[in-house]
Amino acid sequence: MKISEDFFLKDIISIDQFDKRSVEKVFATAAKIKKTPVKKLLKILSGKVIALLFFEPSTRTFSSHSAAAKRLGAQTIEHQNPMQTSSVVKGETIEDTMKIIEQYSDAIVIRHPMIGTAEKAANVVDIPVINAGDGAGEHPTQALLDAFTIYERFGTLDNLTGLFCGDFRYGRALRSLLKLFSMYKNNTFYLLSPEELRLTEEDFRLYKNKGLNLIEINSEKEIPSYCHFWYWTRIQKERFKADKSKKILMPILSPELLEKKGNKKMIVMHVLPRIDEVDKRIDKDPRCIFLTTQAKNGMFIRMALFSLILGDRR
Ligand code: NCD
Repeated sequence: MKISEDFFLKDIISIDQFDKRSVEKVFATAAKIKKTPVKKLLKILSGKVIALLFFEPSTRTFSSHSAAAKRLGAQTIEHQNPMQTSSVVKGETIEDTMKIIEQYSDAIVIRHPMIGTAEKAANVVDIPVINAGDGAGEHPTQALLDAFTIYERFGTLDNLTGLFCGDFRYGRALRSLLKLFSMYKNNTFYLLSPEELRLTEEDFRLYKNKGLNLIEINSEKEIPSYCHFWYWTRIQKERFKADKSKKILMPILSPELLEKKGNKKMIVMHVLPRIDEVDKRIDKDPRCIFLTTQAKNGMFIRMALFSLILGDRR
């Protein structure tokens, strides 16, 4: 269901539900929350219970949702790995699990390895459902936090040049972020990835038709020096069967590459977790914000979403 400006009790399943107004409403709310005294924030969701059901591993998305709920005064029901710790292990269906969790909570945040599960869950329950990643499908809250981080730094989501690097085939965070950027004007994005992990032709055409200027490049040499941001991702190796005899070669984010192809004003982002596509010597560079600002904004964006979806409307 489209959101427009009214988030109250809505599900967040896909970036397709958003328009510029709703994106900017989330940003404005997050910016306000960042400036609000801690004690005042605790009243926003006091008495509420938010359930976190994570059927896939997670560090940031899980912890930031949990912290967001608690910092707004809500309590949480937390199932990390329900495949082992809930009645799912006994064969309970996702539908029944959702129905039961609905009896105890005011909203459900769900991550699941299968595309479409968040939507399926939302169709079963009457309380809001937030998609924290559905297989290779979407990761809308990640896209919002990434876009917010870029917006905070450059004051706009139009007229930007960016480099995206990594897994466009199975990366749900990239899919959601490119969808979000398709709402904005005059953006040029360079896409660097191993051949087998490029955008599908269908996705490429989809974003192009929506107005994104996408340029696929074949090596680090083709990265322009004037990017506003670089955005790196890992290979989603759990989502496909790779040919073991053929190693997929990922471009490496290193201090040398940043020195050669970067500029002073840019920021360097990563959806995380990083595996071996980042040379850790780069962490010291203040342009790298993936372990700090970007990750922390995840909590503020989720606080904004919770307060818009569940907070008192007065
Ligand atoms: C991403 C995810 O789970 O889709 N991580 C995250 O939420 N920060 C990306 C990934 O796992 O590579």
